[in-house]
Amino acid sequence: MQKPCLLCIGHRGAMGHLPENTLSSIRKALELGAPCVEVDVYNVDGHLVVFHDDRLERTTNAAGYLAEQSFDYLRTLDAGDGQRIPTLEEVCDEIDSKACLNIELKGPDTAAPVVELIANYVKKGWCKETFLVSSFDHRELLTVKHLDRDIKLGALIRGLPVNDAKFAQDLGAFSVHPSLDFIDQRFVDDAHGRGLKVYVYVVNQMEDINMMYALGVDGVFSNFPERVLENYSQGKRTNRWI
Ligand code: G3P
Ligand code: CA
Repeated sequence: MQKPCLLCIGHRGAMGHLPENTLSSIRKALELGAPCVEVDVYNVDGHLVVFHDDRLERTTNAAGYLAEQSFDYLRTLDAGDGQRIPTLEEVCDEIDSKACLNIELKGPDTAAPVVELIANYVKKGWCKETFLVSSFDHRELLTVKHLDRDIKLGALIRGLPVNDAKFAQDLGAFSVHPSLDFIDQRFVDDAHGRGLKVYVYVVNQMEDINMMYALGVDGVFSNFPERVLENYSQGKRTNRWI
């Protein structure tokens, strides 16, 4: 029998297995068969670095605010298992167009350099639809839209807005990314009625993965991609968000 379909997005690579947002974590997500990978991005000294927190303590051997460090110093740090904090370019090269990439803009001034990076990869032959740019900072997403209206946008939210997914439609987003903590049927139906995909973060437990399928969401971010992949087919494998 055909398995039901729920898109699997490897969260910070496959952070349930290897240090988050590192090249080994990305590689692991790909090895597990994740068709999509998500990473977090900051702009430090004009360099796009792949990192989640605004501080260094939790995931490196250093302390302090990320934005107060130089790029060269950040590259000397251990981001887990002796690995460097990767650049977004290194992550793209690791993915090598084999999976879809969701770039989450974490810090300020990330929109323009990310648009430029995407343009460079498109020049190298990648499809623009390989990329999905998301953020909790919807003004940063609007900047992406103004710079390149064809880049797909994902609007991240923590709680549920009073007008459900209307804000994401107004933004011209491709998808809306609600939290597992708040998602409900009304929101999913409203988003679908507006033509938006619904990708829920972060869904790790099998009962929650099954519940997301029952709600009819389109995909989930998971630290353990294999749990989604084992139980749900991914539809037609592609390196495009479609
Ligand atoms: O993009 C989905 C999810 O990663 C958003 O939350 O805090 O894990 O970046 P966070
Ligand atoms: Ca993220």
